Amino acid sequence: METKLQELKDEALKVIEAAGSPEEIEAVRVRFLGKKGELTQILRGMGGLSPEERPRIGQLVNQAREEVESRLAARFSRLEMARMQQRFEAERIDITLPGRRRRAGTRHPFSIVLDEIVEIFAGLGFSVAEGPEVELDYYNFEAMNMPREHSAREAWDSLYITPEILLRTHTSPVQARVMETMRPRVPIKIIVPGRVYRRDALDATHSPVFNQIEGLVVDKGITFGDLKGTLEAFVHALYGPDQKVRFRPSYFPFTEPSAEMDVSCFACGGAGCRICKGSGWIEILGCGSVHPNVLRMSGYDPEEVTGFAFGMGLERIAMRRYDIDDIRLFYENDLRFLEQFRVEGR
Ligand code: DAH
Repeated sequence: METKLQELKDEALKVIEAAGSPEEIEAVRVRFLGKKGELTQILRGMGGLSPEERPRIGQLVNQAREEVESRLAARFSRLEMARMQQRFEAERIDITLPGRRRRAGTRHPFSIVLDEIVEIFAGLGFSVAEGPEVELDYYNFEAMNMPREHSAREAWDSLYITPEILLRTHTSPVQARVMETMRPRVPIKIIVPGRVYRRDALDATHSPVFNQIEGLVVDKGITFGDLKGTLEAFVHALYGPDQKVRFRPSYFPFTEPSAEMDVSCFACGGAGCRICKGSGWIEILGCGSVHPNVLRMSGYDPEEVTGFAFGMGLERIAMRRYDIDDIRLFYENDLRFLEQFRVEGR
């Protein structure tokens, strides 16, 4: 019996070593240690042993079982490990491959230029105000000193929704809206960026929807000199300290006196070229001292306070800044155009 036991154990250990997978190990375990396993069966034969021999043989059987069991466990974990290793190899990820870059979008040139303008005026003490694009005739015209039938209204090709409501033709109505909410407090120092609408056909230099930036200052003792100083500081900050400016007399119903401000032509430096039509100057905004009627209608006493206002087109400034000769490029969302405004590092 002892010999048989020895043989069985040797056979078991041999088969264990030969097993090539965890599944085979399990089969070996069943074969030798299972309920009907060969090492289990051997205990059955113990009935024929003498009572003296029984404990000794029983112990031997147990030892054999234990040894086989621990070899099984060891081989099993080695095979499992090998299998895992194989899987890791097969599913290996090459972490040295460069990642996929997520391309961020670009900022629209309007946003870039507008931010710059807002920052310059913020540095001069201005804050930003806004108003509705669908506007009352009252604010768009009447409060801007253009009563019904005023001939100056013709200068703005308006898009009316009802006789009282229109798409605002300029950002000037926000002057009146801000004064109404601020009265009688001073100072008012605001700029107003926003979209405006005109009954114009789209071509290289006109768009029925475009952007303006309005400015308004109301305080005690504001003079035309303050207007010139402020706008000159703005132009120097935007285009550089060597940029020359000039003011030409003009007419707007909401300012008196009114002016247009020109900057020396960036293309020819003032010598005269195609872009400035030979004059050496380029017009960039309208401005003036706030008309007493405008102050009065919105609740301020023109005997106590004075002010200045200005209005400029964002498109024109962005076209100058980036040398763009067709306004339609701004609205077409052609990525070949927009991606040129990619900021370094993005
Ligand atoms: N609102 C004028 C326009 O649309 C621009 C303008 C001119 C605004 C003179 C002003 C100003 O505030 O003082 O053409």
